[in-house]
Amino acid sequence: MGKAVVMGAGGGIGAALVRQLAERSPPGTVLALSRRRPPDLPEGVTWAGADLEDEASLAEAAALAGEGEAPDLVIVATGRLQVAGKGPEKSWRALESEALAEAFRVNAIGPALVAKHFLPLLPRDRRAVFAALSARVGSTGDNRLGGWYGYRASKAALNQLVRTLSVELARQRPQALCVALHPGTVATGLSAPFQAGVAEDKLFTPDFAAERLLRVIDGLEPHQTGGFFAWDGEAIPW
Ligand SMILES: NC(=O)c1ccc[n+]([C@@H]2O[C@H](COP(=O)([O-])OP(=O)(O)OC[C@H]3O[C@@H](n4cnc5c(N)ncnc54)[C@H](OP(=O)(O)O)[C@@H]3O)[C@@H](O)[C@H]2O)c1
Repeated sequence: MGKAVVMGAGGGIGAALVRQLAERSPPGTVLALSRRRPPDLPEGVTWAGADLEDEASLAEAAALAGEGEAPDLVIVATGRLQVAGKGPEKSWRALESEALAEAFRVNAIGPALVAKHFLPLLPRDRRAVFAALSARVGSTGDNRLGGWYGYRASKAALNQLVRTLSVELARQRPQALCVALHPGTVATGLSAPFQAGVAEDKLFTPDFAAERLLRVIDGLEPHQTGGFFAWDGEAIPW
């Protein structure tokens, strides 16, 4: 594994990804990006500020990531479930324009802009992976429960963006992959208000989820680009 970039390094899963990548990579080869510097960054990890809603900060972070060796792995581990301080919508009565727009800005548009600036950095001559953390609830085909309108729809949009990016990426970099990943239900700040009804063995630690996601990433083959995969490698319907 060469250089790796994690956007969202201050989040529950993002921080665990940084820890595990730092353990298996030489010092100086992991770049952690987040709005604020996480207090417990592992030794040897480089940090830079980046905000999904500030494209100039993404361009600056990409310029830093592009120095020296090309990154073999870029993971976007950002996301937001509660917007404007409110829980996800249970009914169409709760739909609000600004909250929906915020969900799309953070969950779909932000990762797309990360792709805009980081996909051009991927090497042309070897395997590389761009992975965005999505959520199973973003699967349109799998939606039987309803609810969580903004989160679901913005993750569905993210999945479509990932698929579209993968088509363009394949023309320039046939060995590179662009995928969406579902981490499982993970004990982080994002899921904290919704963990009560989750069976203990279905609520993963961030380290378990990160380990399984990296295992999935390691096992993906170029023909699987554009796919949506769960923490156990299962392909999720769009
Ligand atoms: N936890 C789960 O059960 C679960 C299930 C399915 C999918 N996922 C997905 O997994 C990913 C990681 O979630 P998590 O559970 O680790 O949640 P988390 O602990 O809340 O982390 C999310 C991170 O996203 C960052 N973020 C939000 N808006 C941002 C912005 N404008 N610019 C930069 N960073 C921003 C947050 O940064 P700040 O700290 O600066 O706010 C936070 O560090 C998300 O895409 C989520 O949808 C999680």
